[in-house]
Order: sequence, then structure tokens, then C-alpha cells
Amino acid sequence: MKSTEILDLMVKDHSLLMQYLKDVENNIGHDFGFLSNSFNTFQWNLEKHFFVEEKAIFTSYNPDEPDKKYDYFSDLMDQHTEILTLIGSLRKKLQKREPFDLNELKKLLVKHKTFEEKNVYPVLDQEIDDCTKRDIIDRIKEIRL
Ligand SMILES: [Fe+2]
Ligand SMILES: [Fe+2]
Repeated sequence: MKSTEILDLMVKDHSLLMQYLKDVENNIGHDFGFLSNSFNTFQWNLEKHFFVEEKAIFTSYNPDEPDKKYDYFSDLMDQHTEILTLIGSLRKKLQKREPFDLNELKKLLVKHKTFEEKNVYPVLDQEIDDCTKRDIIDRIKEIRL
């Protein structure tokens, strides 16, 4: 059994992102400046997270065994696009100071992160070679500075 370092780091990042989203939620209906700042912090960190997933993690694992099904990376990237599009429309509402809620975003994010934590990172941790794993971990740490 290899280490679960990638899973551990990404689970931590996922909970941090959910915490940032909670901050946004707590600021709804209160001070606009706080709401706006918390929204920026959430979006900034989520985009960094998606960036490292798409550019450093999903691209580093390309098994050619036909019996193994690892075609979920493109679905996950489609979900990133869907989530970012939704955030874009929430941001528009925020800028116009229209009311908005985060229920749909929360639902999408929880489903997405749960899939990654159950089906993606545990597999990568076991299947990729140690050298690739080191590279991935370095990249993850770059975005978590
Ligand atoms: Fe993701
Ligand atoms: Fe993720």
C-alpha cells in the first residue's frame, strides 16, 4: 500500500474551500464589503484548486490498460466549467446587489469533491509512480502557499 499523500492534501484543500464558501454564506445579508471579499477569496482559491487539478494532476495519469476505466477526467473538467459558470452568474448578481443563494453551488461542489475523494485520488495515490507523485505534491504545495 503506497502513501495517501495526494488524497490527504486534496481533502484538506476541499475542506478549506468549503470553509471559504461557508464564509460567503455567513456574509449574505450583512456587510456588502465583507460579502464581496469573502466571495473573492472563495473564487480565487477554487480557481487555484481547479488549475492544479487540471494542469498538474489529471494530466499526469494516462494508463493504457483497456480494462481499466479512467475516462472520468474529462467529465470532471466539464464539472469545473459548470461550477465556474455558476460562480460567474452569482458574481453578476453580487455586483448588481441582487439576492442570491448558494444551494446549487454547494450541491455541485459536494458531489464533485466526494467523487474525487472516493474515486480519483485514492486510485492515483496507488497507481502512479513515486516520481510523478512527488511532482504532483510539489505542484499542490505551490498553490497552497
Ligand atoms: Fe475538481
Ligand atoms: Fe478537487
